[in-house]
Amino acid sequence: MTNTSNSVAAADQKAGTPLVEMREISIAFGGIKAVDHATIDLYPGEVVGLLGHNGAGKTTLIKVLSGAYQRDAGSIHINGEQVDINNPRDAKAQGIETIYQNLALADNLDAAANLYIGRELKTKFGTLDDVAMEAATRGVMGRLNPNFRRFKEPVKALSGGQRQSVAIARAINFNARILIMDEPTAALGPAETAQVGELIKQLKSEGIGIFLISHDLHDVFDLADRVTVMKNGRVVGTVKTSEVTHDEVLGMIIAGKCPPSAIPGPGALAH
Ligand SMILES: Nc1ncnc2c1ncn2[C@@H]1O[C@H](COP(=O)(O)OP(=O)(O)OP(=O)(O)O)[C@@H](O)[C@H]1O
Ligand SMILES: [Mg+2]
Repeated sequence: MTNTSNSVAAADQKAGTPLVEMREISIAFGGIKAVDHATIDLYPGEVVGLLGHNGAGKTTLIKVLSGAYQRDAGSIHINGEQVDINNPRDAKAQGIETIYQNLALADNLDAAANLYIGRELKTKFGTLDDVAMEAATRGVMGRLNPNFRRFKEPVKALSGGQRQSVAIARAINFNARILIMDEPTAALGPAETAQVGELIKQLKSEGIGIFLISHDLHDVFDLADRVTVMKNGRVVGTVKTSEVTHDEVLGMIIAGKCPPSAIPGPGALAH
């Protein structure tokens, strides 16, 4: 097993080349164009917020990247090279990990068992290597959330923020360099939301790129370097959070109106 490290992240990074580029992605369900010629990108150590009303196509677009859905058209590029992602296994092989809103943890198991579920470490005798799994779990959790001490308890006993850190630890334990987080703070209180914010900052500093889907504009302005807004399956535009106001982003979400600082997409209102 190898852990993600600064050196791995740095070696992956070609100057100026996006970690992820999804170009002209389209996918329809029946007659409905859930995603229509959407282009988004993400750089190492960057957080890109994906915003838009319910049904805008955010989750569908991100599920194409995680291999849960197969695109009808378009291409995916990782570090500048076109890759074929047709299922979740392909995505994981590219270092893409997804944390869904329900976290998908096994409630009755402890943190280490959750980290290694389905990928358990074995001793040379073929038995479970609990010592190695717990040691590795302490290592990765120590990086993310140094105050975490509850290694012996089932994860159902943990707080929402602690559960989120276990889910993130599981994702990054297997060399993730691209993390997709769908509404990570929707079920959390203010203190736990702040804790997840700290986790995200830590991952950024390690060169991991993050797509963050959130309805909370505050969170997004706090954590994202850029935002891409979608509406009716199309990209309205992409803009740096430092170059835009909350009201301008709301205008993109509600009316599809791009401010001058944004790069407009096919879903932008014509001037
Ligand atoms: N599996 C599916 N089968 C049929 N239609 C789907 C499916 N998944 C999504 N859709 C449709 O595709 C469109 C985009 O939905 P999607 O879930 O991607 O939106 P979203 O931006 O993630 O919304 P929300 O903010 O509510 O999560 C919607 O019209 C939705 O009804
Ligand atoms: Mg969604």
